[in-house]
Formats: sequence, C-alpha cells, structure tokens
Amino acid sequence: MKNKSLVSITDFSLEEILKVLDRAKEFEKNTNQNILKNKVIATLFFEPSTRTRLSFESAINRLGGRVIGFTDPSSSSVTKGETLKDTIKTVSNYSDLIVMRHPLEGSAKYASEVSSVPIINAGDGANQHPTQTLLDLYSIRKTQGKLENLNIFFVGDLKYGRTVHSLLMAMSHFKPIFNFISPERLKIPEEYKMFLDSLKIKYFEHESFTDIISEADIIYMTRVQKERFADLIDYERTKNIYILKNEMLKNTKDNLKILHPLPRVNEIDIDLDENPKSYYFTQALNGVFTRQAIISLIMGL
Ligand code: CP
Repeated sequence: MKNKSLVSITDFSLEEILKVLDRAKEFEKNTNQNILKNKVIATLFFEPSTRTRLSFESAINRLGGRVIGFTDPSSSSVTKGETLKDTIKTVSNYSDLIVMRHPLEGSAKYASEVSSVPIINAGDGANQHPTQTLLDLYSIRKTQGKLENLNIFFVGDLKYGRTVHSLLMAMSHFKPIFNFISPERLKIPEEYKMFLDSLKIKYFEHESFTDIISEADIIYMTRVQKERFADLIDYERTKNIYILKNEMLKNTKDNLKILHPLPRVNEIDIDLDENPKSYYFTQALNGVFTRQAIISLIMGL
C-alpha cells in the first residue's frame, strides 16, 4: 500500500481493506500520535465538504502533520484558467500526499497519473468515494461484529450516490444480500448490477421497503444528490420520496443500524436521532480513525 494512490475501492485488495480496518481500530484506541511530524498533506476540495475534509484534517492534525490546500477552487488559480494537470503537478511539489474532491468522474484517476505523490480520492462526481467506504465498513464491522452474510438496504439516490457505488463493490467480498430501494429514475446503474451478477451476488430492487424492513441488518440511507440533476424539476419530484421515521423501526432486528454518509436533508427524521439503532453521527466520527489508518499505510508508516 506504500505510495499507492486510492482512487477506487477496487485499488485495495481484501487483505488491504482488512488491514485498514484493523489499523483504524488501533487509532481509535490511541488517536493522538506524532507519526506525521515533518509531513505536509494537501487537501484540494473543488466541491463542498464538511465531514470528509474536516475528518481528514483532524486525522492529520492529531498525527502531528501539517495541512495545506483550498476549500473552494475560486480562491485558487483554477479561476485564472489553470488546468487540473498543472494544479496537481504544482501541489505535488509542495506536499507528500494529496487528498482531492472534484466534481468530474475520473478526475482522481487522472490526477493520480500526473502526480508525483499519492492521490486519495475524496469523491469524484457520482463515481466513487473510497475513504467513505472504508469508514462505512469499519462502522458495519464494529456494530455487527462481522462483515459477512449481512442484508444491506440501500435507500434513496442510488444513481448518483457515489458512496453506494463504492460500498457495494467493497461489500461484495463478504457474501451480502443487497436490497436497492429507489424511485425508477434513481435506480442503481446497470454497470453495478453487472458487477454483482458477475460475482453471483444476490440483489433485489424495490420502490418501497416498509414490507421488508424487518429483514435488514443495515439500512444505508442516502440524500437525493441535488447537485447532480440537470433538471431541478426532476429533483423536486424525488426529494421527499423516502423519509425514515422512528415508528417504521418497530418490527426491525435488534442488530439493525441506520447508516447515512451525511449530510442529510430530510430523509431521516430527526426523531430518529436518539434511537439506539441510529449510528450516522458515530459513523462520521469513525472517519477520523479510518482516515488516519489510510494515510499511515499509504505513507508507509
Ligand atoms: N460523507 C461525506 O462525503 O460528507 P461531506 O460531503 O460533508 O464531506
């Protein structure tokens, strides 16, 4: 893993994924260490973020490293017409590692090809969000005691939700059953179904999940990704389609946990926040330990 970019979750083998999770567990026990002394990590966010950027920066600060970067490309020379290639070549001269979020699918792969330091993809358009996936896996293993043979419900925007795309690929190592719940226009893309078919992984598609909710081990709620819609009327039609409420959890399994990559808009009612089955804020906290593990392994520490 040393000096390896993390562009897609498929860049890491099963053994490497498990290594990240095991190391994240160690960082959870001992979060403040000085292993990144004299290291400079760049965070380049061409799209807004709260959790990904700040958990990366918290992870780096708690390990004694330094952070440079921008949170808004309008404060960089991108506004003067500088290309992504030139930006990455320049910043890779200033840093030991680059964490990048960009709206274009494939941008992280391209950055990894022109950079002299490893690139960590912090989300490229509707494509992939591999570090979110690793923290999701950490959260699932921590709450379920295992990753194998779980029934995972993905609910909401399965077309544009990059966290869903990365997570289903990673979970495919662990014999899951998937239930995809979405409106017709936000269905899981064909390429992911073909991927699951090729591995003979069972999945079912539904427009509603109230009748089957008692089967779920994990419900992974997602926000309808307004920023990816070409037509806002389409967004308005779908934005309120699934709202998870406390009363819906009455006949669910004891081990059920509700995950959400966040931010939420209204797809999880706030009355659920105090329910012990809700896990999304702790899930976001797990991002610090998981990102510490990813950085330390890529930097060969
Ligand atoms: N989960 C996630 O990517 O959140 P942010 O957009 O706030 O980084």
